[in-house]
Amino acid sequence: MVYSMKRRFFNLKPKPRIDMPEKTIEPKRTLKPSFAYLIEKKREGGEFTNEEIRQIVDSIMNREMPDAQQAALFMAIFFQQMSAQEMADYADEMKLSGDVIELEHIHHPKVSKVSTGGVGDKTSLVLAALGAAAGVVMPGMNGKDEDFVIPTVTKLSSIPGVKVKYSIKDYENLLAKTGCAIVEQCPEIAPADDLIYTLRQSTATIPSIPLITGSILSKKLAEGCESLVVDVKWGKGSFIHDREQAKQLARTITRVARSLNRHSVALVTDINQPIGNCVGTALEIREAVALLNDEKGLEPQPRGPNGEILDPLFDLRELVLKLGMEIVRLAGVAGSTLSARQTVNKLVKDGSAFKKFREMVIAQGGKVDWIDNPDKFPKAQYVRKLPAPKRGYVHTIDAGKIARGVQVLAAGKDGKYDPAVGITEIRKVGTQVKQGEPLIMIHYNDEARMEASLQYFRDAYRLAPKRPKEEPLVVERVA
Ligand code: URA
Repeated sequence: MVYSMKRRFFNLKPKPRIDMPEKTIEPKRTLKPSFAYLIEKKREGGEFTNEEIRQIVDSIMNREMPDAQQAALFMAIFFQQMSAQEMADYADEMKLSGDVIELEHIHHPKVSKVSTGGVGDKTSLVLAALGAAAGVVMPGMNGKDEDFVIPTVTKLSSIPGVKVKYSIKDYENLLAKTGCAIVEQCPEIAPADDLIYTLRQSTATIPSIPLITGSILSKKLAEGCESLVVDVKWGKGSFIHDREQAKQLARTITRVARSLNRHSVALVTDINQPIGNCVGTALEIREAVALLNDEKGLEPQPRGPNGEILDPLFDLRELVLKLGMEIVRLAGVAGSTLSARQTVNKLVKDGSAFKKFREMVIAQGGKVDWIDNPDKFPKAQYVRKLPAPKRGYVHTIDAGKIARGVQVLAAGKDGKYDPAVGITEIRKVGTQVKQGEPLIMIHYNDEARMEASLQYFRDAYRLAPKRPKEEPLVVERVA
């Protein structure tokens, strides 16, 4: 069920009182503060009232505030921050700039999983199916991402026939039928955020804690979730490069969500290197399907004699396990940490999560035989290795540079991705390599593009004589 608030169309002016004289003295001041006043107020560190935030959102929606003043205002917010109350008001007003989905007629707990976006991260694909297999409805509208991150809907679209554009009604039907859906965000959902996000991209104001908090919460609240699991990424493969800032964001989102009556849990996770063993559109679908079909489940796999990691999916497995546990616990499907762990593990091991993924693909019109037999996905014409320039241990991989390299390989001028290309067999941090051994395998269709991508891939790798200290994947849990 959708209800439309669209507050901007409401006439907020008080009705004239009957005993008022027809003509009153001309007001000296307008009721609404000027945009310049609002900019100045924030520039000086002031706190906006709810009415002022409503005015800002409404005037952006109505195209009343000139771009220059919007840019100045968001830059002022970037530097001066917002209070928790301002962020809650901002998220709520952005939510009310469009339609709000109510899923009360679907009698299951509804938990949204959202990530701030990371390279090679295919957990949303796996978790949509895993959560739904556990009896949780998983709203899954895919909003904006950093330009170097391949959106989850783009990955899903590499399955022939899959449709990702739906009306709100049809999206609700998908959720009612299957329990999960991965679709493009409907334009009616938090349209103010769409306008503001575009402005932020062109004004270098994306990495702002209040603005990210408002942006994520407005969309998720409008999407129909009751609670929220947030993966806050920090590192080179995200727009948040600082671990402390990511922790701050995790704390802020959970706090503001609570004030808006939503339970949430945030995990702060490392995305300095890509997640999993590949980056690329269809390649990532195949990896998600491989994990869903993995009878080993989600538990950590045995290591080598020197403690070295042998499992190529170790980090994807861990991330799905940890986020999946939060989903089933927030939904109330599992009470304790132990039972949450057993639940999500079982759903992968016994094939229920894979079955749900198939159902989702069928419901969205996709050719499910490609999921049953992933060899049907188109393969790139050529594969070549990126050789290690010397022997040593992989010390760091800059996931941002990897993503840029894959973008050069894959993204056409029309914004479409070549689904077949990307990288696989990523030698992860801590792996020992000999000179000339592959660091990654590059799948490509165009020689010139491949040549152009090489510099990014070479620059992404740093080798060192000693094995680096192992960093935790999940660095903090905030509830
Ligand atoms: N993801 C969002 O949805 N909004 C932001 O502002 C940043 C990441």
